[in-house]
Amino acid sequence: MDLSAITVFSGGEFRRYDEAKVGLLTHGLQYGTGCFEGIRGYWDAQDRELYLVLLREHYERLKISAKILMMEIPHTVDELIAITVELCKRNGFETDIYIRPCVFKSAEDIGVRLHNVPDHFAMIPVPFGNYLDTNKGLNVCTSSWRRADDTMAPPRAKITGLYVNSALAKSEAITNGFDEAILLSHDGHVAEGSAENLFLIRGGKLYTPDPSQNVLEGCTRKAIMTIAAHNCIEIVERSIDRGELYAAEELFFTGTAAGIAPIASIDRRVVGNGGVGTITRMLSETYQRAVRGKEAPFASWLTRTYMR
Ligand SMILES: Cc1ncc(COP(=O)(O)O)c(C=O)c1O
Repeated sequence: MDLSAITVFSGGEFRRYDEAKVGLLTHGLQYGTGCFEGIRGYWDAQDRELYLVLLREHYERLKISAKILMMEIPHTVDELIAITVELCKRNGFETDIYIRPCVFKSAEDIGVRLHNVPDHFAMIPVPFGNYLDTNKGLNVCTSSWRRADDTMAPPRAKITGLYVNSALAKSEAITNGFDEAILLSHDGHVAEGSAENLFLIRGGKLYTPDPSQNVLEGCTRKAIMTIAAHNCIEIVERSIDRGELYAAEELFFTGTAAGIAPIASIDRRVVGNGGVGTITRMLSETYQRAVRGKEAPFASWLTRTYMR
């Protein structure tokens, strides 16, 4: 990806990507002491508009992540939203994008800690297509890696260092011939994918691990539950056993990068009849329309960039 032409926001200023550098000894790089968000912008050619999705939810989560890491973001949520819109305008994007706001410990010295270390806030937008192939069902496996537990480092914060856990699981899955991994918690209950929340459908009800199951409280997770409730589908948040995944009629991931990604098989067992299930399809199609400004009940999720 050629990033040289991209304008980023770093240290309170808009700069070229190449001009915004960090030093080799930066704490955030050496110790993983940072947190971040992933935000989507969807370009709608018909409206000639770039719709930014769930900005407030993402920035409220970033504030919580930063608090957990004893960091201060020097902007309010409303200011962050305004900066995001300005950044996208300056880049003049007319394509789907992904925005990466991040805040990290910026001192360049030796000594792991959270206290008495200055922070740095930056926001980097990039053109971005599909993260997972959402047209075909994914073949997934249960990872041999367990999801990090809240007693080790809180998964409800989107902490950079925690993504080693995700990377181990993802690479294990891919090198073993699968598309994605599902991680169990230390106690053997289902947590989530490497960068996605997980839902299953059984008997017409939607099940997903509750927030105490070491999952990230996903923005797309919440959006999908809102669409489900709007369509009178019962939602159950509780701990889920691995065996229940094998018994599921439909299974799918949700995530900002992935969107709604149907799962075709788990641990070589076909999910349902192997195709994309009817409830998954309805939720996915509604979400796809919603993020491009085509679903009035969910219009409040979107911030317009150009307002043409
Ligand atoms: C570990 C993990 N779980 C779940 C999600 C999905 O969260 P969201 O829908 O907010 O992108 C992500 C992606 O951000 C993630 O990294």
